[in-house]
Amino acid sequence: MDKMTIKDIVIRDKVLMRVDFNVPLNEKREITDTTRIKRVLPTIKYLLEKNCCLILMSHLGRPKGKVVPGMSLAPVAKKLEELLGQEVVMAPDCIGPEVKSLVNNVKPGEVLLLENLRFHPEEEKNDEGFASQLASLGDIFIQDAFGTVHRAHSSTVGICKFLPSAAGFLLEKEIKFLDDALKDPEHPFLAILGGAKVSGKIAVIDNLLNRVDSLLIGGAMAYTFLEAQGIKVGKSLVEKDKVNLARDILKEAKQKNVVFLLPTDHVIVEELGKTAESRLSHGIEIPDQWMGVDIGPATIERYKTVIRQSKTIVWNGPMGIFEDKRFALGTMEIAQEIGKITQDGVLSIVGGGDSVAAVEKAGVTEKLSHISTGGGASLEFLEGKELPGIAALQEKEWSAVNSS
Ligand code: 3PG
Repeated sequence: MDKMTIKDIVIRDKVLMRVDFNVPLNEKREITDTTRIKRVLPTIKYLLEKNCCLILMSHLGRPKGKVVPGMSLAPVAKKLEELLGQEVVMAPDCIGPEVKSLVNNVKPGEVLLLENLRFHPEEEKNDEGFASQLASLGDIFIQDAFGTVHRAHSSTVGICKFLPSAAGFLLEKEIKFLDDALKDPEHPFLAILGGAKVSGKIAVIDNLLNRVDSLLIGGAMAYTFLEAQGIKVGKSLVEKDKVNLARDILKEAKQKNVVFLLPTDHVIVEELGKTAESRLSHGIEIPDQWMGVDIGPATIERYKTVIRQSKTIVWNGPMGIFEDKRFALGTMEIAQEIGKITQDGVLSIVGGGDSVAAVEKAGVTEKLSHISTGGGASLEFLEGKELPGIAALQEKEWSAVNSS
């Protein structure tokens, strides 16, 4: 990587570290998935072993620049305490005199977690003054919030103006896996894309068509592509204004010799709802008044065959409404198959909140090569975009010159 990493930077006393503790909470404000906390533990432990005073900062949810008590990071401090086996002091804010004095009292090997950055409207505006106030809390800045590096905010971009900066272990790992897959994949390279809308995946498809050998499509976005081919999809979700675009994408895939596979059978329902009766379509068409909710058994088998023939697999987006277990089979089978083949030396990367949840449900999390902690960030990376929170970090050459 051409950016400074935690192993390159000279570690100083007070380390200010951006993490992505934007974790899901239930009504009781209990954390329902601790993955994002667990995945930064190696960086946290490394810095504590080096006797740093560690100041962590994150956002949680979208409080829109206001203090929303339900979006406090206090439950995260508790969970982190449990995971680390040591006290984590929770600050009442992320800037101001009280925070400053708490920071001054942090001893080597201790951890302070700042309150939700997005309680201040300046954070999302990448406000320079706010960035400089945050920067005044540390001697160096470590960026380990991969999930947030697609946002140009004070704590991801602005801050790099004021402090020597470097990537933490998680960010470095995320970049390495995604970069390797995009730039130097072992072929055949397969991308599996799902989810509700084509519109959210256009840029990813555009970028991947230049790199992959095959593209498998599932989820509701498949119906827009089927409609573009003149296939009847009943009342399935179709983005009418994207049908022409879907047709262009299919044409482009053909020109580029990319195998572009769409479902050839479906699980269908007349209405969504718990009591709705479901059945299989007879073939590729969906009758009027019915809608597709999952890929069918023939599609599952065909997709599994392509998966077994691949050496690099990138997956983003479920194959159906997998939250309802009656419509989860397609997504679960795909997850299992990727899990199996990864054990035979295939590189598999999964990104996006829904697919990550699906992989967990299927019990194959440990089997895959890499599960990205970034939803939007991993998508933008796959689109080939420069992510501002990575771009803002110090270049390696710069540091080498300045630290020598
Ligand atoms: C995420 O959950 O994808 C990140 O934490 C970014 O959150 P945001 O979409 O609210 O910026």
